[in-house]
Amino acid sequence: MRKKIVAGNWKMNTTVAEGLALAKGIVEKVEEVPADVTLVVAPPFTHLTSVAQVLEGTPIQLSAQNCADEPKGAFTGEVSAAMLKDAGCAYTILGHSERREYYGETSAKLVKKMALAFENGLDVIFCVGEKLAERQEGIHFDVVATQISEVLFTLTAEQMAHVVVAYEPVWAIGTGVTATAAQAQEIHGFIRNTLSAHFGEEVAEATTILYGGSCKPSNAQELFACPDIDGGLIGGASLKAGDFIAIAKAY
Ligand code: 13P
Repeated sequence: MRKKIVAGNWKMNTTVAEGLALAKGIVEKVEEVPADVTLVVAPPFTHLTSVAQVLEGTPIQLSAQNCADEPKGAFTGEVSAAMLKDAGCAYTILGHSERREYYGETSAKLVKKMALAFENGLDVIFCVGEKLAERQEGIHFDVVATQISEVLFTLTAEQMAHVVVAYEPVWAIGTGVTATAAQAQEIHGFIRNTLSAHFGEEVAEATTILYGGSCKPSNAQELFACPDIDGGLIGGASLKAGDFIAIAKAY
C-alpha cells in the first residue's frame, strides 16, 4: 500500500511566531486525522528549527520548500540539503512551478538537487504540472511526461521509493480554480502509467502522487476518492490549522 500524504506548503508566508502558532494548532488536532494519513508541513527556511521542536514526538513530518544544487561552499543565499537534514527535515519539495517560473529551476538543476537530497537522507516531493496555455493547446500530457522523464528517469527504482510526485496544474495554483476530480484523475493515472512504463508496475503502484492547486476542505474528499490521487500538496488552505486538518480528515 502506498503512503497517503497531506502536505502543507506555506510558501513565503508567516513570521516565525505565526508559523509556530500554526504548527501548534496542527499538532493539537493531529489525532483527528486518520492514522494512515501522514501530515507534512513545509515552512520557510527561517522557521525550520523552531517548527521542528514543536513537531518533536508527533507523527507530523517537516519539509523544506527547496534546497541548493551544490553541497556546500561559496553559494551566497543558498541552503544545502545537509543543512535541511540537520534542521530536522525529512523531506524537501523540489521543482515547484513557482521555482521553475520565477527562479529558473531547470530539469538539470533538479537532477543535481535530487541527488543531494538523497545523499543527505531527505525524501523529495517532486512537483510537475502544466500552465494554462499548455492545457489549452492540449499538450499537458507531453509537458508532464517531459518533466518526469528529464528528472525522475535519471533515478534508480530504489531512489524512487524516496520520491513523492505532486501534480500541480499551474492554472489551479492560488487561483481558486481546482482541476475537476475527473481532470485530476486522468493526469494522475497518466503519471502512474508513465512511471510504470519506465520503472515497472511495482514502483508505479508504490509511488504516492499528490494533487495540488486550490485544494480545500470543500473539494478534498472528491479529489482524494480518485484511485490515483494519494493526497494533496496544499498552499493557501494549509495556512489555517483548521482547514489543513479538515483536508486531511477528508480521507
Ligand atoms: P494553493 O493550494 O494555494 O492553490 O497552492 C497549491 C500549491 O502550489 C502547493 O504547493
